[in-house]
Amino acid sequence: MDDATTNQPGRLPCSFVIFGATGDLSTHKLLPALFNLENAGRFEDDLSIVAFARHDWVTDDLTGYVRAALKDKASQPSRQGVLDRFLTRFRYVRGDFNDVESYRALVADLAPGLACSRTVFYLAIRPADFVAVIKNLKAVGLNEPRGMNRIVIEKPFGEDLESAQVLNRVLHQHFDEEQIYRIDHFLGKETVQNLFVFRFANTLIEPLWNRNFIDHVQITVAESGGIEKRAGYYDHAGALRDMLQNHLMQLLTVVAMEPPPALEADALRDEKVKVLRSIRPIAKRAVHAHAVRAQYTHGNIDGSTVVSYQQEENVEPDSITETFVAAKFYIDNWRWRGVPFYLRTGKRMPKQHSMIAIRFRHPPQQLFRETPLESITPNWMLLSIQPEESMRMEIHVKQPGLNMNTRVMQMNASFLRTDEQILDAYETLLLDVIEGDRSLFIRFDEAEWAWRVIDPILKFWTVDREYIPTYSAGSWGPAEANRLFDSDDQVWRNEL
Ligand code: BG6
Repeated sequence: MDDATTNQPGRLPCSFVIFGATGDLSTHKLLPALFNLENAGRFEDDLSIVAFARHDWVTDDLTGYVRAALKDKASQPSRQGVLDRFLTRFRYVRGDFNDVESYRALVADLAPGLACSRTVFYLAIRPADFVAVIKNLKAVGLNEPRGMNRIVIEKPFGEDLESAQVLNRVLHQHFDEEQIYRIDHFLGKETVQNLFVFRFANTLIEPLWNRNFIDHVQITVAESGGIEKRAGYYDHAGALRDMLQNHLMQLLTVVAMEPPPALEADALRDEKVKVLRSIRPIAKRAVHAHAVRAQYTHGNIDGSTVVSYQQEENVEPDSITETFVAAKFYIDNWRWRGVPFYLRTGKRMPKQHSMIAIRFRHPPQQLFRETPLESITPNWMLLSIQPEESMRMEIHVKQPGLNMNTRVMQMNASFLRTDEQILDAYETLLLDVIEGDRSLFIRFDEAEWAWRVIDPILKFWTVDREYIPTYSAGSWGPAEANRLFDSDDQVWRNEL
């Protein structure tokens, strides 16, 4: 129960409730991230973790499950004590998302004997269950106290513009915006945060970061994996909703935004929204010129044969869901007018690789006669997001010798020193939720404008269900993706 002292804003929550605690997201992302935070000593002593799930379990069953899920992470002897401490934080509440009685059990679990009732509710569940959980939390009063209890919603936030607006209305009926954390885990990735620093802490970069010097921007998120066991969700969502509307759009906003007046949640998000609002709307007749979708057929990745999308478990054999999407956007503002932003993402590509590639313009003058201008390739700046976090600049230098020839030199820099490790995005974000920092979470108008941008493509493809181009698993996508380029000298940059 909150009292005058514990009720002060800024005090940390003492219960972290995970809905869907035994699901994929919780098992593979949340539990390991929470464990790492425990290991780093970032939790208050009184923090408890409450797992809400359907199994007919008691707390011992849950801790057995968590112990097994963290087997690899906690294998070092030095981590055994940390694991034991971590496990004492857990309690299990059996419940059905749709049954209000289960929420009364949750209230009973959270309230008695506790000096504080500030709680985080993490919805690691199917989007179809979001509304039921939100309404039931309200029904038993767990949306209160408004300034204290927080709710974390995973993506996708809605499945199109309209449903996102409906979901948001329901949320806002019961929770204040300050309580809501819409998560896009790409914003927790180190390189993405590094982009803020890279752009706004280096005098060298900012003067070049505009249409005068940049020819175009490419954002690629390639995955070698398929859809694992997620057909139920993915076959309906497709790559446009699953990746482009959120993760890639967020990357685009971070690349393109103006410097905010301060690194505060709303100041940052105001600038990101301005970018989204400045994206030129895609007319229905222009969808073909702006977006390409495709689906993988069988192929070979890293020496293993993989099946086609239509043969994946629980996918309809005639499904035309896209597993690859590429799109071109223009940002009509003073900084970016005329600079195309090419975005693409796909499953079953040759390797897992996410990268932002900035291509600069050709130099205007041909000084080096032995190296004709056409063969002087433009400068590139490549920011790798994963698997490695690094930066590469490609610049021209003189080839040693009597002639004045040039060649491209690559300047590589890893963001990490050898003794440093990358934090998982979820660690950063979960800590932010606990500490109440919303800067790296999505405000509704961001989600809404991102839906507005892609809605014409979504609508067009929903109706146009006859045919979808294909690409072999293990390739960089369909040849059709090349048709998005504005000029012949633009090509997809696949490798660093
Ligand atoms: C998720 C998508 O949001 O992000 C998945 O639903 C995708 O389809 C995943 O595989 C990629 O995230 P990461 O951090 O593994 O690159």
